Amino acid sequence: MSNRIWRKLAEPRIWKRLYVERLGEPLLYNIASVFVMAFGSTRQKIEYDCIPRNPYAYCILAAADHAKSYGIKRIAIMEFGVAAGGGLLNMCWIAERVTRETGIEIDVIGFDSGEGMPPPNDYRDHPEKYFTGDFPPIDKGKLIAALPKNARIYYGPIEQTLKQAEAEVTSTVGFIAIDVDYYWSTKQSLDVLAWSPDRYLPSVPMYFDDVYNLDHNDYCGELLAIAEFNKANEFRKIAPMNFLSKWRIFKNAIWHNCVYYAHVFDHKFRSLPYVEAHRTKSAVLTNPYL
Ligand SMILES: C[S@@+](CC[C@H](N)C(=O)[O-])C[C@H]1O[C@@H](n2cnc3c(N)ncnc32)[C@H](O)[C@@H]1O
Repeated sequence: MSNRIWRKLAEPRIWKRLYVERLGEPLLYNIASVFVMAFGSTRQKIEYDCIPRNPYAYCILAAADHAKSYGIKRIAIMEFGVAAGGGLLNMCWIAERVTRETGIEIDVIGFDSGEGMPPPNDYRDHPEKYFTGDFPPIDKGKLIAALPKNARIYYGPIEQTLKQAEAEVTSTVGFIAIDVDYYWSTKQSLDVLAWSPDRYLPSVPMYFDDVYNLDHNDYCGELLAIAEFNKANEFRKIAPMNFLSKWRIFKNAIWHNCVYYAHVFDHKFRSLPYVEAHRTKSAVLTNPYL
């Protein structure tokens, strides 16, 4: 992992992002983050955005914390669109650390064609940005060999492999990253949210990779697929994490706007009978004027 960090630091775009997103943040927080990076726990490193692919780290920890609060012991985290596998292996690396931090077991599941991007259908797939054959797998054998025991990749069209995963995945779906670029592929990936409600956390953190360009819009790509999903589903909605930037130590990061929750409103844990049966005490507010 440390080799990867040094290689990344050699890329000018990384320095530009650091300059724009990080170095203008309060000096105190930047100094603190150096110490956190050296001596901090996984949770502290995630709080201070010291982990490569901060949104994955943030969402995986949030999923594990949610799971723990509901007494769920094992979750599945998913990446739609694996390509060469940089994102998936990063998920595995984070998952191992989050398990140590929280005690929650994590299955890592990838979905990919195994052949790079399929053909786009029309303008809604942003063909001007992504096209047939982009992002090929590079070395599938090496990638599969590098996966830990708790990880697997479903190769093939998502429409088909998702059905197989529905029959095989037994852990609670806890985090979903969507990085398939096209509108039609995203629409198919979002079928992962059509399973029975007990298969999910009540709110599943989601990451959408292709929503942050200045010209991404509600009429194409992932944003269109999200809008249509919300229109079509009464009890499942995908909504941005509310006020996320305000809750973070470092507030300028672009990724905050790529992170959503899939709300499972028909989940048992959100039903009146369940809440009534499990409430142990009423909330009480004190009044400093009395
Ligand atoms: C941008 S790449 C993923 C990059 C990866 N998440 C990473 O961070 O390294 C997009 C991938 O989505 C996959 N993909 C797109 N549409 C697909 C579909 N309908 N079925 C299967 N895979 C698809 C392509 O094979 C491609 O490798």
